[in-house]
Amino acid sequence: MRRPIIAGNWKLNTCSESGPALVAALKAEVPAPSDKVEVVVCPPYPYLGLVAAAAAGSGVEVGGQNAWHETSGAFTGEVACEMLQDVGCKWVVLGHSERRQINGESDELINSKVRKALDVGLKVILCVGELLEDREGDRTEAVLKTQMTGGLVDVSAEQMAEVVIAYEPVWAIGTGKVASDEQAEEAHKFLRGWLEGRFNGDVAGATRILYGGSVKPDNANGLLGQPNVDGALVGGASLKAELFIPIIQAGVASVS
Ligand code: PGA
Repeated sequence: MRRPIIAGNWKLNTCSESGPALVAALKAEVPAPSDKVEVVVCPPYPYLGLVAAAAAGSGVEVGGQNAWHETSGAFTGEVACEMLQDVGCKWVVLGHSERRQINGESDELINSKVRKALDVGLKVILCVGELLEDREGDRTEAVLKTQMTGGLVDVSAEQMAEVVIAYEPVWAIGTGKVASDEQAEEAHKFLRGWLEGRFNGDVAGATRILYGGSVKPDNANGLLGQPNVDGALVGGASLKAELFIPIIQAGVASVS
């Protein structure tokens, strides 16, 4: 069984008060590590330490929204994977479509970060997903293949135990326009097949593939109920405990 992951990407939101307060509310739902669901929150860098302290010992784990692929040096504005770990992160999100689009991150750069994070011992949530024009031009699978191939260069089958894939169709992120259950399942099935070809059946069977893009309490059960959807990467709805907790519950229900 693949244990579902419900991850919250807080993006450029929260503050030193609201971040820990949100975690305190989530801890009521997952007071201790659970074998039914893994819950991860990804606050902005300045609050990582505070949020990790608030989450300590509970079923809420903390991740960075990005990282740099060097340990130290003249990289103004960047944060190292080791620094994320130092302040209590177990996870890092890499290749988010906003990083790809706004910051021009290439598959090559994302791959350097993936390899560095894995070397250091961080677990990676690698985001992939097509633009609306790709979907309309029937290029969804080609885009996913390119991003998976490029993002996972020189990553071994053993290392894949620490990698989670997030399928996030760009047209569904922050738009309220969610992929249908069938569209999500079709893309996830394609990704799992790709993992089998690139690695092997064991890796394909064990890798968690999350769906992201306008996940809300009212669509979570349908999406998470798909056989190849192993959790969710949630933006907007992760900022309110009353929205995020029902999504966590949908994750638990999806394997019960
Ligand atoms: P959204 O964001 O849930 O607000 O659509 C998802 C994401 O960007 O990870």
